[in-house]
Amino acid sequence: MKFFADTAEIDDIAELAELGLVDGVTTNPSLILKSGRDILEVTREICALVDGPVSAEVVSTDAQGMIDEGRKLAEIADNIAIKVPLTWDGLKACKTLTTEGRMVNVTLCFSANQALLAAKAGATFVSPFIGRLDDINLDGLDLIADIRTIYDNYGFETRILAASIRSVNHISECARIGADVATAPPSVLRKMVEHPLTDKGLAAFLKDWEKTGQKIL
Ligand code: E4P
Repeated sequence: MKFFADTAEIDDIAELAELGLVDGVTTNPSLILKSGRDILEVTREICALVDGPVSAEVVSTDAQGMIDEGRKLAEIADNIAIKVPLTWDGLKACKTLTTEGRMVNVTLCFSANQALLAAKAGATFVSPFIGRLDDINLDGLDLIADIRTIYDNYGFETRILAASIRSVNHISECARIGADVATAPPSVLRKMVEHPLTDKGLAAFLKDWEKTGQKIL
């Protein structure tokens, strides 16, 4: 499974990239707002830090507007994935942009039928939002499993990019189900390393080491 960082914060992306932990990045208008940066400028910087796909989202709601914005965003770098919403016009824009050979991430997916349409429109990625489904008492992970089954039934090549991830359990469950990518905030990616038995075991080893009176260096 690939890990994408769901952020537009350059420092976080740089740290994760240095560790080899980030295979791509996803942004959206809310994350751009949070960064306080200009979309073209910050996206260019992110693309220079990360080799993999960097999703940048259009804001037009009509197909032609999305196509025009998508083409402009794609000029930033070769690794741009144009993010379009899962609407009828978004599907039209997806078809046109993928036919031109561009990567497209169809976002705001909340049902298996929507994911089926995104695959039919040639999407490179579909982004089902797990956390926002959980927020309304539905099971976001069930949606990931349903899409996995449907795509495998027919050999669709669209990658399942699990989004709106809120916990480390979301990541391990997505990996178990077979999502192709998980995009998560850097705080969640960092939390994956934590385990109380690791901390307890390390403390015990260090205590015993101190008793030996030895030094390695
Ligand atoms: C990523 O592509 C999505 O825009 C993002 O994961 C949404 O997450 P949120 O529901 O926490 O805002």
